[in-house]
Amino acid sequence: MSAEPVATAPAKGPRHVALIMDGNGRWAQRRGLPRAVGHREGVQALRRTIKAAPELGVQCLTVFGFSTENWSRPADEVSDLMGLVRAFVGSDLNRLEAAGVRVKVLGRRTGLPEDIAAIVARAEAQTAHNDKFLLQVAFNYGGRADLADAAQLLVDRARAGEDFIVDEEALGAGLSTAGAPPVDLIVRTSGEQRLSNFLLWEAAYAEMVFQEILWPDYGPEALAEAIAQFACRQRRYGGREVIDTAYGEAAV
Ligand code: IPE
Ligand code: IPE
Ligand code: MG
Repeated sequence: MSAEPVATAPAKGPRHVALIMDGNGRWAQRRGLPRAVGHREGVQALRRTIKAAPELGVQCLTVFGFSTENWSRPADEVSDLMGLVRAFVGSDLNRLEAAGVRVKVLGRRTGLPEDIAAIVARAEAQTAHNDKFLLQVAFNYGGRADLADAAQLLVDRARAGEDFIVDEEALGAGLSTAGAPPVDLIVRTSGEQRLSNFLLWEAAYAEMVFQEILWPDYGPEALAEAIAQFACRQRRYGGREVIDTAYGEAAV
C-alpha cells in the first residue's frame, strides 16, 4: 500500500465498507466487447479499491464477487468468473499478505469447484496471521443461505445437547461475517438500487450509497465520494440522538 494518501479521509468515516461490484457486463457491452473483458477490468478496479481503502481510513472491506444466484448465468460466464479468482489469488495473494491484509472468504464452500475451494483455503490460511486490514470476499455467497447455515449450526448445537438461547448474538455468531466489525456502509455501483441477497442481516443499520459508475471504472475517487456521502449521514439506530460513527469506534 503506497504512502501517498489518495484523498483525505473525513473525520467521521466508515470502518467497514461493503461493495456490490455491479456493472461489468454493461461496461463491456457499451464498448462492444465480450462480458469477460468487463469482468477482467473489474478485477483491476478491485485492486485499485483495495489499495485505496486503508488510505481512506477503512479497516475492513467486504466485496460481493459471486452470488448464490450467479450460478444461473451461462456456463461460459461462470467459468470466466472462476478463472478470475484463480488468476487474482495467483497474482495478488503474496502482495496482500505482505501488506498486512487478512483475507476471508464468505459463502458456501460446497458447490465450488475443488481447485477453487483449495485456493480459498490457501488464501485464508496464508493471511490468517495478518491484522492490519480485513478483506472479506463474498463468493458463492447469499445472505439467505448464510442465515440458513447459521440456523443449522444452532440446530446442531441443540442436538448435541447444548443449552443456549436463540437470540441475535447466537445467530449472528454463526454467520460467515462473525468477528468482522459491523457494516457501516454498503455501496452498490451501476445505478441499481437493491441488495440482491447481500448481507441481509448485517445491513440492518448500514448506510447505503448508490453510485452510477460501472464497476470497471471504480477506484479511489469513487470510493472517496461514497465515504464523503457517508460522512454527511446522521445515524440514530432507532433512538433520538445522532450517534457519531468515527473510525474505529462503530456504535453497534
Ligand atoms: C457484476 O457485473 C459482476 C458479477 C455479478 C459477477 P455484472 O456481470 O452483473 O454486470 P451487469 O450488471 O450485467 O452490467
Ligand atoms: C449482484 O449483482 C452480485 C454481485 C455483484 C456479485 P447481480 O448483477 O448478480 O444482481 P442482479 O441480478 O442485478 O440483482
Ligand atoms: Mg449485474
